[in-house]
Amino acid sequence: MPGILTERNLMWRARAREVAEKVVRPLAAKYDRAQEYPWEIKEAIAKAGLMGVWIPEEYGGAGDGVIDLCVCVEELSRACGGVGVLYAVNALGTFPVMVGGTEEQKHRFLRPIAKGEKLISFGLSEKFAGSDAASLRATAEKDGDSYVLNGEKKWNTNGGAADIYTVFAVTDPSSKSRRTSAIMVEKGTPGFRIGKVEDKMGIRCVPVVEIHFENCRVPAKNLLGEVPGLGFKHAMATLDKARPGVAAQAVGLAQGALEYAMVYAGYREQFGAPISSFQMIQALLADMATKTEAARNLVHVAALAVDRGEPNVSKLSAMCKLFATDVAMEVTTDAVQIFGGYGYMRDYPIEKYMRDAKITQIYEGTNQVQRMVVARSLVKESLGLKHLLDYIPKEIQKGVNDPETLQRLAEEARRLAEETAGALDVPSHHS
Ligand code: CAA
Repeated sequence: MPGILTERNLMWRARAREVAEKVVRPLAAKYDRAQEYPWEIKEAIAKAGLMGVWIPEEYGGAGDGVIDLCVCVEELSRACGGVGVLYAVNALGTFPVMVGGTEEQKHRFLRPIAKGEKLISFGLSEKFAGSDAASLRATAEKDGDSYVLNGEKKWNTNGGAADIYTVFAVTDPSSKSRRTSAIMVEKGTPGFRIGKVEDKMGIRCVPVVEIHFENCRVPAKNLLGEVPGLGFKHAMATLDKARPGVAAQAVGLAQGALEYAMVYAGYREQFGAPISSFQMIQALLADMATKTEAARNLVHVAALAVDRGEPNVSKLSAMCKLFATDVAMEVTTDAVQIFGGYGYMRDYPIEKYMRDAKITQIYEGTNQVQRMVVARSLVKESLGLKHLLDYIPKEIQKGVNDPETLQRLAEEARRLAEETAGALDVPSHHS
């Protein structure tokens, strides 16, 4: 179903689908088992021109949008969720440069990514700073015309395979609002070291590693925008642009699992008939397909809003991420159910979808964080809807912030304190 996609979007979809079916699907199980970076798949993706889809033409890319990135991610993820993120994470790494880089930085860092010559990784999280992304500890201290990095980064997807790292570090520990900055670090810089390589439940073909910085000196011209203190804003603006990509990965996983389940249900016979003829299986499939289609459309709406630079994309971006990834978890789990005992086995392709789907509810902001972002936005929007109070009877809807209620609550608290003091037979400080 093309939905709201243009000819251009569909062209990218067809290209990504071709790579997915010819190269990714046949190799998906092999790289999942080996937990190795699939260089041959990356080469096929680059050869098809997919690496520069979202990068502006002046920096060597195709000049298309997040919507085009999303259709490519969906297609690749339909064949392998790991490959979906292996590709999408390059967008995550480049978005801070696109959002906050100088012209010189954009030319220097975006061009080799767009051409598929280099890979990039995004380093925000740390052991003690996950959802609370503002509480980073890694530091970057100015020293002459350099920054000297110290500390660790956790969960660097693409780490080790990537040549360039967008790293968020504290440049001004005394500041609350301008504490961190994004700094571009190249692999091989002295003091840059790949640490623990994670052994993962899913997305096993893409490495996730720790990165350690030990007096790692990078030129000051690598600080994004060459103005310190904008790190948190750059990170948040990046995540607004990148979350639809995770959501698209989830839609691809849901679609891929649904298709395997549809085919299997028509082929598997029990009680003398294909299980697809049973209403309980039909209901499962119908719900899986409906949820997947709804998620896809929300992803497209959010991606288009990002591309149009609409205000308050944070809400839509968070909505599509949380909805699509929850759908992916449900749909891939139901697909395993339809495969029955076989679905639980490693030599069948379906359990991998469920394993790959799980991480989409966690990374690029847990779905709890996404709900928080959506809810904060709703609270702000409610301020513009105050006229609705005229239609809500007041007697039981008293707010807690009006002076009258606050006064009453204070009096009740005082009375309660006095009563309690009396009951315990100790003197109340009001007596
Ligand atoms: N765009 C621009 N600025 C933003 C913003 C946005 N979307 N959201 C917040 N800001 C600004 C605010 O305006 C505020 O600025 P002022 O101080 O000038 O007013 C400042 O940033 C602080 O904002 P908040 O008070 O909202 O910040 P918070 O500390 O409450 O955190 C949060 C908000 C939403 C929880 C945020 O910390 C968050 O998104 N956490 C999740 C982190 C995350 O997604 N990590 C994923 C890592 S990447 C990954 O997973 C990659 C991978 O492996 C593939």
